[in-house]
Amino acid sequence: MPIRYFDDKRIFKLDTSGSSYIFKIGRAGYVMGLYYGKRLTDHDVDYLTVREGHDSTVPLSADVDDDWRFSPDTMQAEYPAYGTGDFRISALRIKSGGVGVTDCRYISHRIYEGKSDPCGMPHTRAGADDADTLELVCRDVTGAVITLYYTAYRRHPVIVRRARIANSSALPMTIERAYSASVDFTHPEFSLLHLWGCWARERKPERRRLGHGITTISSSRGASSHYHNPFAALLSPDCGEETGEAYGFSLVYSGNFSIDAEVDAFGLTRIMCGINPDGFSWKLDSGESFDTPEAVLVYSDSGEGGMSRAYHRFWRDHLLAKKWQGEPRPIVVNNWEGTYFDFDADRLVSIAKAAADLGLDMLVVDDGWFGVRNSDRCSLGDWVCNERKLPGGIGRLAERVNALGIKLGLWFEPEMASRDSDLFRAHPDWCIRTNGRGMSIARHQYVLDLSRAEVRDYIFDSLSAILSTANVEYVKWDFNRNLTEYSRADLPDDRQGELFHRYVLGLYELLDRITASFPDVLLEGCASGGGRYDPGMLYYFPQYWTSDDTDPIERLSIQYGTSICYPACTMSCHVSASPNHQTGRQTALKTRADTAMAGIFGYELDTARLTDAERAEIKAQVEEYRASRHIVTDGDLYRLIRPETITHGGVVCAWEYVTEDKSEAIFTYVCERTVIAPVSFVRLRGLDPDRIYTDVQSGVRYRGDTLMNAGLNLSGGRRDGESVRIRFIAD
Ligand code: DGJ
Repeated sequence: MPIRYFDDKRIFKLDTSGSSYIFKIGRAGYVMGLYYGKRLTDHDVDYLTVREGHDSTVPLSADVDDDWRFSPDTMQAEYPAYGTGDFRISALRIKSGGVGVTDCRYISHRIYEGKSDPCGMPHTRAGADDADTLELVCRDVTGAVITLYYTAYRRHPVIVRRARIANSSALPMTIERAYSASVDFTHPEFSLLHLWGCWARERKPERRRLGHGITTISSSRGASSHYHNPFAALLSPDCGEETGEAYGFSLVYSGNFSIDAEVDAFGLTRIMCGINPDGFSWKLDSGESFDTPEAVLVYSDSGEGGMSRAYHRFWRDHLLAKKWQGEPRPIVVNNWEGTYFDFDADRLVSIAKAAADLGLDMLVVDDGWFGVRNSDRCSLGDWVCNERKLPGGIGRLAERVNALGIKLGLWFEPEMASRDSDLFRAHPDWCIRTNGRGMSIARHQYVLDLSRAEVRDYIFDSLSAILSTANVEYVKWDFNRNLTEYSRADLPDDRQGELFHRYVLGLYELLDRITASFPDVLLEGCASGGGRYDPGMLYYFPQYWTSDDTDPIERLSIQYGTSICYPACTMSCHVSASPNHQTGRQTALKTRADTAMAGIFGYELDTARLTDAERAEIKAQVEEYRASRHIVTDGDLYRLIRPETITHGGVVCAWEYVTEDKSEAIFTYVCERTVIAPVSFVRLRGLDPDRIYTDVQSGVRYRGDTLMNAGLNLSGGRRDGESVRIRFIAD
């Protein structure tokens, strides 16, 4: 049993494959954290006790005031509440009768095999054999019933947490903060690792030492966003790529989120993640309940690399839709950078014909096939094929493309309406707005209010009309702006704070309907590149367009940052033209392909306009990817040299994928900037030291321990932008 309750000690112990999480029920029902870290035996479960040593200004609980050592202000709280003696950041604040004072005391619990899921939200999956769940029921005097859910996985170092708040009183109450999880650590001196970014520069890892006070990573854009990802990790002072401790916190949510860390005066570090309380409130009438999204906690004692591999395996096994788990994805050519809006049916068919000759699987027709959209200024929302460009519609195009042995994929941006669109003219009220204020515009478009059922029905019907009549086997679902001036005139004042979350729930409901109605259509997520790349979206979209920046040198750090939390099988990566359209940088076709082969591989150029030499090279790339993709998409990632690292080989980056049975590996090395006469050996990781690995291309044979200890000899120098990709097979 991964979860046990020691009745005599009133202690819960949650054991995963590599970690233990222990907490206890204290006097007066206080729920107090004891330990989270490397797996412990049961020997000392009650060793840790109340923290002493605070000063006389901290309040003593009215229920435990005979024990001067105990104060809510210094305890390790499992789910800290606002206004009852704990002055640090709180996970829970509920207003009842206009007063926000809240408490959270234990009432009862139950433990069972498997797991239960939050209502209407994407979630991780578990069968009875995978995990146990603890439901801990707590209560406030107002009648708020708070159930904390903990699911501990047997074969992953993972604990999934969430909360449900129910109103058991006769009067309404309003939730002002309800985080998914909060953990208090007594070890001091953590660094916080998080992923910041912006358009075309997503998910840049930043590590900073936590000082006293509060550090917050958040989004209030209506989407998880390019700017901060709903992921952060606490790193021990000695944490490196493969050593030291890392505690990951990832939120299965696609809207406004917040991850807050606080170091208190006594060296305790509190971290919590959940829906961003800024601008949020949720009214609960008598008898109603509210579910938070899930938070996925990973523990690693083998550094950031161990944490990433644990997340990768976990998302692959327990988050992605079953149908796409381990399923090879089509190798696509997307026409966006090849043609932008300048295409017609014949041009698309010529791209598909060339793609068939190259061995590709699918043509994805990007933006511009509908309405009168020949630029980004109009037609979003008018999801009717532009027959002047594509006579006979999408169905006819699919037939022509399919006849070449190529599948068809199609771009949509379902959550939007252009200012110049029939949809906006007919239903201006369907777009997010606040009466009496101007509507901010971005890329000439507005956001449709997905909190409204009629808007979701319209989107569902529009997509269904295409997907049920034409052979479209893939949808790229784009989202190119954030939410502003959000209110609804038809909702009462005390429900306006619900809108951002209602939008996200509406989006999830729509995606549930689409995936249920078209289960064989592969969905790729996109938000101006990777602007909503989060586990909530990955539940529906097994792959995500990583970034609009397709320059392979820029992609090194974007893909590296993405890999901190997300697996290669979700990371859509395309080879585009050189010079690159975003940066103007020229790079070899080999480097572009070697970099894109670190994820779900494809092309984003006009395949009908290639030279003979390029065609020959691309055919070989496609064959190589087909032969080796399982190593990348199902294997373990070892980040060997971080991008932009200055070493004696210049400024370089290197990574490696190894299959679970260690019988195959792929090593990739990119020289970002060269130096004269470098000497460079790169040590591999994760191999079997006693097996012989053959370089598939050169036939050279090495022992695993040689590759891991002496390293691979890359001396001799590489020019700027040159790459090396070696596939190894063990005897
Ligand atoms: C933004 C996406 O990230 C691009 O890949 C492309 O689909 C454009 N939108 C189309 O407008």
